[in-house]
Amino acid sequence: MARTTTVLLVGGSGHWAGRENHAPALLEMRQSGWPVRTAVICDPRNPEKRAQGEDMAPLRELLWRDSPKWLNPDGLSRTELEAVLDRAHSTHRFSLAIIACNPVHHRDYILWAVSRGISVL
Ligand SMILES: NC(=O)c1ccc[n+]([C@@H]2O[C@H](COP(=O)([O-])OP(=O)(O)OC[C@H]3O[C@@H](n4cnc5c(N)ncnc54)[C@H](O)[C@@H]3O)[C@@H](O)[C@H]2O)c1
Repeated sequence: MARTTTVLLVGGSGHWAGRENHAPALLEMRQSGWPVRTAVICDPRNPEKRAQGEDMAPLRELLWRDSPKWLNPDGLSRTELEAVLDRAHSTHRFSLAIIACNPVHHRDYILWAVSRGISVL
């Protein structure tokens, strides 16, 4: 039996992650029997509020199935953000970080994740 893939979804309230690509793919993986769970959504926009949008059915279903915690990076320095991510990682033991926020922030999240041995998409 495969170990559960535990996901940190960065930018999960966005169009590409919450509607168009990642949430549907994660739901499909789960549907096909792959043990996968989105444990944390890191986004300045509240995913619960975003999921109320008519166009955000995949995000709504992901929240309903996985109950991910919301991590709000707004206003945090890089050091503070890393500390918050480290605390979340020690709780959830992420195996995968999906980085789907604005490209300007990709590098910080990638460096954080790979330096902790977490796979990155
Ligand atoms: N929309 C597309 O068709 C498409 C296609 C291919 C790739 N992409 C890529 O996906 C990424 C997101 O695009 P989008 O269209 O979903 O944009 P979007 O603006 O809808 O979503 C981006 C999300 O990132 C969040 N965000 C902003 N700053 C953040 C931070 N510091 N930490 C975490 N989250 C933060 C925003 O609040 C938002 O929810 C981009 O890198 C884009 O190039 C988009």
